[in-house]
Amino acid sequence: MKGVVLAGGLGTRLLPLTKITNKHLLPVYDRPMVYYPVEKLVQAGIREIMLVTGGNAAGDFLRLLENGREFGLKRIHYTYQEGAGGIAAALALAEDFVEGDRLVAILGDNLFEENLLPYVRRFERQGRGARILLKEVEDPERFGVADVQDGKVVRVVEKPKRPRSRLAVTGCYMYDARVFDVIRRLKPSGRGELEITDVNNLYIRQGRLSYDVLKGWWQDAGSSFEAYARAGALARALRLRSGL
Ligand code: G1P
Repeated sequence: MKGVVLAGGLGTRLLPLTKITNKHLLPVYDRPMVYYPVEKLVQAGIREIMLVTGGNAAGDFLRLLENGREFGLKRIHYTYQEGAGGIAAALALAEDFVEGDRLVAILGDNLFEENLLPYVRRFERQGRGARILLKEVEDPERFGVADVQDGKVVRVVEKPKRPRSRLAVTGCYMYDARVFDVIRRLKPSGRGELEITDVNNLYIRQGRLSYDVLKGWWQDAGSSFEAYARAGALARALRLRSGL
């Protein structure tokens, strides 16, 4: 199982904090944002990790993460995304690294309370297809939202005005290697990006998308200043609780 951390984009929702640096390098409590998703993958037993980034500050990730020794890794792989093509376009850059294996992709601004290992194990047992992690939230219209009927996700809608449920699609996605063919079939969305939501909908149409609902908290740190502040507070509480 390969791990891919998606840390590109322009971070415009956090301007001016992101004027001279990448969003995922900003501090969240006592660490740079990107530490959290890398730690989550390592905690879930994933040892081969690629970071996809881009923009002016791309080189800073290398200086920050080096070869991943701090995370117990032998090395981290890096690749560069030109421009802001969307999450699915960023994931496509990891195709050669993934080499036909399965993968867990995680957004560089997503924080998860839980250890994701049990979910990764379930995906391993599932075999082919995709698996997504959902979380019940108060403000689903800010996210991709899952329409669940009879225990199945029948559709994911990106930032719906009238959400069909309160189940947000979190930024942790598990795919088999067919995901790269799926991405090749995508067309840019209204905002000109290749959307991860469209990837998930294609898996749904093939009847190959399963899901879990997270018990612990989940927070995206990069979508607004409120989200960013909440992420800092949650990271702090978690750190104090674990006594580190
Ligand atoms: C992205 C996805 C969205 C998902 C969210 C999780 O949104 O498009 O489906 O719910 O990440 O953080 P973005 O932050 O790119 O607007």
